[in-house]
Amino acid sequence: MNPETAQVTLATSFPWPRLPFDPPEIYAWLREERPVTRVTTRAGEPAWLVTRYDDVRAVLADPRVSADIRHPGFPLIFSSHEESAPDNTRSFLRMDPPEHTLYRRLLSKNFQVKRVEAMRPAVQALVDDAIDAMLTNPHRPIDLVQALALPVPSTVLSWILGVPVEDQAFFNKIAEQLGHRGDGSDPTVMDQARNAHAELHAYVSRLGAAREAAEDPGNDILGQLVKAAREGVIPPEQVANIALVLTVAGHDTTASMTALGTLTLLQHPAQLAELQQNPALIPNAIEELLRYLTIVHLVVTRVATEDLEVGGVVIPAGEGIIPLNFAANRDDTHYPDADRFDIHRQARDHMAFGYGVHQCMGQPLARMELHVIFETLLRRIPTLRLAIPVEDVPFKSWANINGVFELPVTW
Ligand code: HEM
Repeated sequence: MNPETAQVTLATSFPWPRLPFDPPEIYAWLREERPVTRVTTRAGEPAWLVTRYDDVRAVLADPRVSADIRHPGFPLIFSSHEESAPDNTRSFLRMDPPEHTLYRRLLSKNFQVKRVEAMRPAVQALVDDAIDAMLTNPHRPIDLVQALALPVPSTVLSWILGVPVEDQAFFNKIAEQLGHRGDGSDPTVMDQARNAHAELHAYVSRLGAAREAAEDPGNDILGQLVKAAREGVIPPEQVANIALVLTVAGHDTTASMTALGTLTLLQHPAQLAELQQNPALIPNAIEELLRYLTIVHLVVTRVATEDLEVGGVVIPAGEGIIPLNFAANRDDTHYPDADRFDIHRQARDHMAFGYGVHQCMGQPLARMELHVIFETLLRRIPTLRLAIPVEDVPFKSWANINGVFELPVTW
């Protein structure tokens, strides 16, 4: 990007639209020329963008950097409801240790590799059923988002949280609306996202209340939370807040990785064929897909609690920081030729799951689900292809979780 175009882009508010598979073009220029730079967000707030791999990692590991949204300088990006949640709906995603540590300890056992692996056969059966339904459906094309990408993580969340299976259709609908955020300028779209958030909060509150009324609240996550609230370990309103954050964090993310990941593989037929011949490469390919797509990138926001030197620049105490994990994951000094998708690359140290104390708690679950999904899809529908030109795929270029609205496929 030439310096003039870069200046023009910088003069407009952050964020800038993504390209279908890539970050906004200016990220590469920023990494080279202005690795730590101050911008104004769409919500009208100043914030420092950090773009180099080492700097993003350093910021996310720094105890002088806070994730607590109550700090006045905490950067709001779109000024949406979830970002400016009042204190009683604040989740542990927006807390610092030691408060944050309490919630991580309470929940982490549910996401340990052993616990997650025990669910693998059930997830395999779920994915097989979804693919059976695709294969026996006489209609073509089929939207992979509705047929596979959304229902799998949604059902798995129902299991671990303890949400009744009959509410799944509702769950899918709400998750989809949460993902339709737009660029913050269309009030209808913003209202829809805000309403979906409120509706989901009301729903999980009702579920929590029903468990609260039961003598034995159960052993799933909702049951564990209700017990913790009864024992005074967590405030009662956190039962719904945590259920909500898990639903939002675990739903659209895995769904988007499934749809956008499949599309990426279809765009790289030689590598796709290699994976079909040698499925043992799939786990490594998933790490590369996570790095290359970095679907969650406008969620990782922080504030400096002290003056902080990052990449030779001092970020003053009280100012917002946006460590751009998407820019970091495309840093050539860490991943040679980083814009190239390469299933053989060693990419497991990517920051698609964030880094530091808030690093994604659901990553073992996401990895297992994606492994089952990609292994089964490539094996059972080996001739899968996109049913429309890639230019016509409706990409979510503004959402804070990147993905596609639909993915028509055939075979
Ligand atoms: C491929 C799918 C996923 C991606 C790319 C992803 C990405 C992320 C990222 C980047 C963060 C860090 C946010 C920050 O530092 O501010 C995060 C946090 C989190 N994720 Fe995920 N996630 C995925 C799937 C899941 C799943 C399946 C669950 C659970 C069901 C989950 C639960 C969480 C939770 C609870 C946090 C907050 C952790 C904390 O604040 O301590 N995620 N995720």
